[in-house]
Amino acid sequence: MLITFEGIDGSGKSTQAKKLYQYLESLGYKTSLYRDPGSTPLAEKIRELILSFETDPTTELLLFETARSSLMWERVLPDLKEGKIVILDRFIDSTTAYQGYGREINLGTVSILNHIAIRGRKPDLTFLINIPLELALERVGGGRTRFERGEYLRKVRDAYLLVASQEKDRIVVIDGARDEEEVFSQVIDCLRERLGLNL
Ligand SMILES: Nc1ncnc2c1ncn2[C@@H]1O[C@H](COP(=O)(O)OP(=O)(O)OP(=O)(O)O)[C@@H](O)[C@H]1O
Ligand SMILES: [Mg+2]
Repeated sequence: MLITFEGIDGSGKSTQAKKLYQYLESLGYKTSLYRDPGSTPLAEKIRELILSFETDPTTELLLFETARSSLMWERVLPDLKEGKIVILDRFIDSTTAYQGYGREINLGTVSILNHIAIRGRKPDLTFLINIPLELALERVGGGRTRFERGEYLRKVRDAYLLVASQEKDRIVVIDGARDEEEVFSQVIDCLRERLGLNL
């Protein structure tokens, strides 16, 4: 089972992904937690490159997809084959929202490259942690990197909500403005309902 966390910077993805990982492990489920981009030696190097260079949108897109391909091939697909639950901190919807809608790359191109990188294996369930833009900027300290600038992030936030409305079967919108425990209980409730996990 493949579960992904999505949302704008500061929305609480890493916090919730880690909580879910610890919770599932404590119940005896074999679970993995990875970040995208990252989590293989190559993908971690590419992550550093993405953060060190400001490139044109297409070069950036290809770097993200190369890192994702490495993560998928070396970690995610083998783990799924072993029957593990795999949790990802960001995945394909980040690329659609940030590079597609945010940097205005053709959405068909983004979709094809996403498809190639993940070998067609879409997430079973995606949590979109939704918070107001102002709260996100407050949490990340006003915007550290080019990905976190206000107007850009507003476009990305709107894009995420649009994508979620188009893929209701896969993407669940969670209210991330509440405290950590309340957000987590929405995640658990949803896993129980949608995937029939005995949590
Ligand atoms: N529900 C919450 N209420 C208040 N603060 C929170 C909540 N969830 C996370 N935080 C805090 O907000 C900050 C950002 O959280 P986190 O790192 O989980 O977000 P993120 O979505 O992973 O961000 P990024 O995209 O930058 O990696 C952290 O300092 C975290 O402790
Ligand atoms: Mg994070």
